[in-house]
Amino acid sequence: MNGMKIFVLTGAGVSAESGLGTFRDKDGVWTKYDLSEVATPEGFARNPALVRDFYNARRANLAGAAPNAAHVALARLEAGLAARGGELWLCTQNVDDLHEKAGSQRVIHMHGELAVTRCHHCQATRPDTQALTAEAVCAACGRDGGARPHVVWFGETPLFMDAIEDALADADLFVSIGTSGSVYPAAGFVSEARAMGIATCEINLEPSSNAYVFDEKVYGPASETVPAWVERVLDGL
Ligand code: OAD
Repeated sequence: MNGMKIFVLTGAGVSAESGLGTFRDKDGVWTKYDLSEVATPEGFARNPALVRDFYNARRANLAGAAPNAAHVALARLEAGLAARGGELWLCTQNVDDLHEKAGSQRVIHMHGELAVTRCHHCQATRPDTQALTAEAVCAACGRDGGARPHVVWFGETPLFMDAIEDALADADLFVSIGTSGSVYPAAGFVSEARAMGIATCEINLEPSSNAYVFDEKVYGPASETVPAWVERVLDGL
Protein backbone atom coordinates (compact mmCIF):
# COMPACT_ATOMS: atom_id res chain seq x y z
CA MET A 1 0.00 0.00 0.00
CA ASN A 2 1.58 3.27 -1.11
CA GLY A 3 1.31 6.17 1.31
CA MET A 4 1.01 3.95 4.39
CA LYS A 5 1.22 5.78 7.73
CA ILE A 6 2.54 3.82 10.70
CA PHE A 7 2.60 5.05 14.30
CA VAL A 8 5.26 3.23 16.34
CA LEU A 9 5.45 3.56 20.13
CA THR A 10 8.66 2.30 21.71
CA GLY A 11 9.56 1.61 25.33
CA ALA A 12 12.51 0.42 27.38
CA GLY A 13 12.45 -3.04 25.76
CA VAL A 14 13.75 -1.64 22.46
CA SER A 15 16.92 -0.45 24.23
CA ALA A 16 17.34 -3.45 26.56
CA GLU A 17 19.75 -5.23 24.23
CA SER A 18 21.84 -2.05 24.04
CA GLY A 19 22.56 -2.52 27.75
CA LEU A 20 20.14 0.09 29.07
CA GLY A 21 18.04 -1.33 31.88
CA THR A 22 14.28 -1.65 31.66
CA PHE A 23 12.10 -0.45 34.54
CA ARG A 24 9.71 -3.17 35.65
CA ASP A 25 11.39 -6.41 34.58
CA LYS A 26 13.30 -8.55 37.08
CA ASP A 27 16.39 -6.44 38.00
CA GLY A 28 14.67 -3.39 36.44
CA VAL A 29 15.44 0.17 37.55
CA TRP A 30 12.30 0.42 39.69
CA THR A 31 13.23 -2.73 41.60
CA LYS A 32 16.42 -0.99 42.78
CA TYR A 33 15.27 2.62 43.22
CA ASP A 34 12.17 4.14 44.77
CA LEU A 35 10.60 6.03 41.88
CA SER A 36 8.89 8.45 44.28
CA GLU A 37 12.38 9.52 45.43
CA VAL A 38 14.10 9.87 42.04
CA ALA A 39 11.34 10.41 39.47
CA THR A 40 8.88 12.89 40.96
CA PRO A 41 8.95 16.69 41.44
CA GLU A 42 8.44 16.06 45.19
CA GLY A 43 11.49 13.78 45.31
CA PHE A 44 13.59 16.46 43.59
CA ALA A 45 12.38 19.10 46.06
CA ARG A 46 13.24 16.83 49.01
CA ASN A 47 16.65 15.63 47.84
CA PRO A 48 17.95 17.17 44.59
CA ALA A 49 21.42 15.63 45.09
CA LEU A 50 19.99 12.09 45.12
CA VAL A 51 17.98 12.79 41.95
CA ARG A 52 20.98 14.33 40.16
CA ASP A 53 23.17 11.35 41.13
CA PHE A 54 20.54 8.94 39.74
CA TYR A 55 20.34 10.72 36.38
CA ASN A 56 24.10 11.32 36.23
CA ALA A 57 24.59 7.55 36.45
CA ARG A 58 22.07 7.08 33.65
CA ARG A 59 23.83 9.72 31.52
CA ALA A 60 27.14 7.90 32.02
CA ASN A 61 25.49 4.62 31.08
CA LEU A 62 23.99 6.14 27.94
CA ALA A 63 27.35 7.55 26.81
CA GLY A 64 28.64 3.99 26.34
CA ALA A 65 25.51 2.58 24.68
CA ALA A 66 25.06 1.89 20.98
CA PRO A 67 21.84 1.31 19.03
CA ASN A 68 20.90 -2.31 18.35
CA ALA A 69 19.33 -3.96 15.29
CA ALA A 70 15.83 -2.90 16.38
CA HIS A 71 16.73 0.81 16.35
CA VAL A 72 18.47 0.38 12.99
CA ALA A 73 15.45 -1.39 11.51
CA LEU A 74 13.10 1.42 12.61
CA ALA A 75 15.37 3.97 10.89
CA ARG A 76 15.13 1.80 7.76
CA LEU A 77 11.34 1.70 8.10
CA GLU A 78 11.19 5.51 8.24
CA ALA A 79 13.23 5.81 5.03
CA GLY A 80 11.39 2.94 3.33
CA LEU A 81 7.94 4.37 4.04
CA ALA A 82 9.01 7.86 2.93
CA ALA A 83 10.34 6.43 -0.35
CA ARG A 84 6.85 4.96 -0.97
CA GLY A 85 4.96 8.14 -0.13
CA GLY A 86 4.19 7.01 3.40
CA GLU A 87 5.24 8.13 6.84
CA LEU A 88 6.56 6.76 10.10
CA TRP A 89 5.61 8.53 13.31
CA LEU A 90 8.14 7.29 15.86
CA CYS A 91 7.05 8.13 19.38
CA THR A 92 9.23 6.90 22.22
CA GLN A 93 8.84 6.80 25.97
CA ASN A 94 12.61 6.35 26.16
CA VAL A 95 14.82 9.22 27.24
CA ASP A 96 17.87 7.75 25.48
CA ASP A 97 19.00 8.89 22.03
CA LEU A 98 19.50 5.49 20.43
CA HIS A 99 16.81 5.98 17.77
CA GLU A 100 18.63 9.12 16.64
CA LYS A 101 22.02 7.39 16.79
CA ALA A 102 20.59 4.64 14.54
CA GLY A 103 19.59 7.25 11.95
CA SER A 104 15.93 7.99 12.68
CA GLN A 105 15.23 11.51 11.45
CA ARG A 106 12.14 12.34 13.49
CA VAL A 107 11.71 11.01 17.01
CA ILE A 108 9.06 12.26 19.41
CA HIS A 109 10.31 11.94 22.99
CA MET A 110 7.09 12.05 24.99
CA HIS A 111 8.98 11.49 28.28
CA GLY A 112 11.77 13.96 27.47
CA GLU A 113 15.47 13.41 26.88
CA LEU A 114 18.24 12.39 29.25
CA ALA A 115 20.89 14.40 27.39
CA VAL A 116 19.00 17.67 27.85
CA THR A 117 19.15 19.78 31.02
CA ARG A 118 16.20 21.89 32.13
CA CYS A 119 16.30 24.79 34.59
CA HIS A 120 13.78 24.18 37.36
CA HIS A 121 13.49 27.97 37.88
CA CYS A 122 12.81 29.22 34.32
CA GLN A 123 12.24 25.93 32.36
CA ALA A 124 14.94 26.81 29.79
CA THR A 125 16.42 23.68 28.19
CA ARG A 126 19.81 22.98 26.65
CA PRO A 127 21.58 19.89 25.22
CA ASP A 128 23.94 18.58 27.90
CA THR A 129 25.69 15.26 28.44
CA GLN A 130 27.79 16.39 31.43
CA ALA A 131 26.96 15.58 35.04
CA LEU A 132 24.15 17.67 36.56
CA THR A 133 25.39 19.81 39.46
CA ALA A 134 23.80 22.16 42.01
CA GLU A 135 26.41 24.80 41.16
CA ALA A 136 25.57 25.04 37.45
CA VAL A 137 24.31 28.53 36.57
CA CYS A 138 21.44 28.73 34.07
CA ALA A 139 22.48 30.76 31.01
CA ALA A 140 18.87 31.93 30.56
CA CYS A 141 17.96 33.16 34.08
CA GLY A 142 21.34 33.33 35.82
CA ARG A 143 20.25 31.28 38.83
CA ASP A 144 21.96 28.22 40.22
CA GLY A 145 20.53 25.14 41.94
CA GLY A 146 17.90 24.47 39.29
CA ALA A 147 19.58 21.98 36.97
CA ARG A 148 17.40 18.91 36.42
CA PRO A 149 17.12 16.42 33.56
CA HIS A 150 14.55 17.24 30.86
CA VAL A 151 12.72 14.04 31.77
CA VAL A 152 9.00 13.79 32.47
CA TRP A 153 8.54 12.64 36.05
CA PHE A 154 5.51 10.95 37.59
CA GLY A 155 2.93 13.63 38.23
CA GLU A 156 4.12 15.71 35.24
CA THR A 157 2.44 15.88 31.83
CA PRO A 158 4.06 14.04 28.91
CA LEU A 159 5.28 16.22 26.05
CA PHE A 160 3.81 16.79 22.56
CA MET A 161 0.46 15.15 23.42
CA ASP A 162 -1.60 17.18 20.93
CA ALA A 163 0.69 16.28 18.02
CA ILE A 164 0.78 12.65 19.18
CA GLU A 165 -3.02 12.39 19.29
CA ASP A 166 -3.27 13.90 15.79
CA ALA A 167 -0.66 11.49 14.38
CA LEU A 168 -2.33 8.50 16.03
CA ALA A 169 -5.70 9.42 14.56
CA ASP A 170 -4.08 9.72 11.12
CA ALA A 171 -2.32 6.31 11.20
CA ASP A 172 -3.15 3.15 9.25
CA LEU A 173 -1.33 0.94 11.76
CA PHE A 174 -0.34 1.34 15.43
CA VAL A 175 2.63 -0.72 16.65
CA SER A 176 3.82 -0.91 20.25
CA ILE A 177 7.38 -2.18 20.75
CA GLY A 178 9.04 -3.17 24.04
CA THR A 179 6.74 -1.46 26.48
CA SER A 180 4.94 -2.85 29.52
CA GLY A 181 1.61 -1.19 28.79
CA SER A 182 1.37 0.03 32.36
CA VAL A 183 2.26 3.74 32.15
CA TYR A 184 -0.42 6.13 30.88
CA PRO A 185 -1.12 7.93 28.64
CA ALA A 186 1.09 5.77 26.34
CA ALA A 187 -0.52 2.55 27.60
CA GLY A 188 -3.88 3.85 26.37
CA PHE A 189 -2.81 4.47 22.76
CA VAL A 190 -3.73 0.93 21.67
CA SER A 191 -7.31 1.27 22.91
CA GLU A 192 -7.62 4.69 21.28
CA ALA A 193 -6.31 3.25 18.00
CA ARG A 194 -8.74 0.33 18.16
CA ALA A 195 -11.66 2.63 18.87
CA MET A 196 -10.75 4.54 15.70
CA GLY A 197 -10.61 1.32 13.64
CA ILE A 198 -6.82 1.39 13.27
CA ALA A 199 -5.01 -1.99 13.07
CA THR A 200 -2.76 -2.69 16.06
CA CYS A 201 0.34 -4.83 16.64
CA GLU A 202 2.40 -5.58 19.75
CA ILE A 203 6.08 -6.56 19.49
CA ASN A 204 7.55 -7.52 22.85
CA LEU A 205 9.65 -10.08 24.64
CA GLU A 206 6.49 -11.44 26.23
CA PRO A 207 2.81 -10.41 26.37
CA SER A 208 2.41 -6.98 27.97
CA SER A 209 -0.33 -6.19 30.46
CA ASN A 210 -2.66 -5.04 27.67
CA ALA A 211 -1.63 -7.66 25.08
CA TYR A 212 -5.25 -8.80 24.78
CA VAL A 213 -6.19 -5.49 23.10
CA PHE A 214 -3.85 -5.95 20.11
CA ASP A 215 -4.90 -7.52 16.79
CA GLU A 216 -1.45 -8.95 16.00
CA LYS A 217 1.29 -10.05 18.42
CA VAL A 218 4.95 -10.87 17.83
CA TYR A 219 7.06 -12.15 20.74
CA GLY A 220 10.84 -12.41 21.07
CA PRO A 221 13.89 -10.14 21.52
CA ALA A 222 13.47 -6.81 19.73
CA SER A 223 16.83 -7.13 17.95
CA GLU A 224 15.37 -10.12 16.07
CA THR A 225 11.63 -9.47 15.89
CA VAL A 226 11.75 -5.81 14.82
CA PRO A 227 14.09 -6.24 11.79
CA ALA A 228 12.00 -9.24 10.62
CA TRP A 229 8.76 -7.28 11.04
CA VAL A 230 10.18 -4.23 9.20
CA GLU A 231 11.22 -6.45 6.28
CA ARG A 232 7.72 -7.93 6.14
CA VAL A 233 6.11 -4.48 6.15
CA LEU A 234 8.37 -3.03 3.45
CA ASP A 235 8.12 -6.17 1.28
CA GLY A 236 4.33 -5.98 1.51
CA LEU A 237 4.05 -2.38 0.31
P1 OAD B 1 9.17 -1.32 31.38
O1 OAD B 1 10.48 -1.65 32.00
O2 OAD B 1 8.00 -1.11 32.27
O3 OAD B 1 8.79 -2.48 30.35
C1 OAD B 1 9.73 -2.95 29.44
C2 OAD B 1 9.04 -3.88 28.47
O4 OAD B 1 10.01 -4.30 27.52
C3 OAD B 1 8.46 -5.16 29.09
O5 OAD B 1 7.15 -5.36 28.59
C4 OAD B 1 9.41 -6.26 28.62
O6 OAD B 1 8.74 -7.49 28.39
C5 OAD B 1 9.92 -5.68 27.32
N1 OAD B 1 11.27 -6.15 26.96
C6 OAD B 1 12.35 -6.35 27.76
N2 OAD B 1 13.40 -6.76 27.06
C7 OAD B 1 13.01 -6.81 25.76
C8 OAD B 1 13.65 -7.16 24.54
N3 OAD B 1 14.92 -7.53 24.48
N4 OAD B 1 12.91 -7.08 23.40
C9 OAD B 1 11.61 -6.70 23.43
N5 OAD B 1 10.96 -6.37 24.54
C10 OAD B 1 11.65 -6.42 25.70
O7 OAD B 1 9.41 -0.07 30.44
P2 OAD B 1 8.36 0.90 29.72
O8 OAD B 1 7.03 0.23 29.55
O9 OAD B 1 9.00 1.45 28.52
O10 OAD B 1 8.91 6.64 32.53
O11 OAD B 1 8.23 2.01 30.81
C11 OAD B 1 7.38 3.11 30.58
C12 OAD B 1 7.83 4.26 31.43
O12 OAD B 1 7.90 3.86 32.80
C13 OAD B 1 9.23 4.75 31.13
O13 OAD B 1 9.26 5.63 30.06
C14 OAD B 1 9.64 5.41 32.41
C15 OAD B 1 9.15 4.37 33.36
O14 OAD B 1 8.89 4.78 34.65
C16 OAD B 1 9.43 7.65 33.24
O15 OAD B 1 10.50 7.58 33.83
C17 OAD B 1 8.56 8.85 33.24
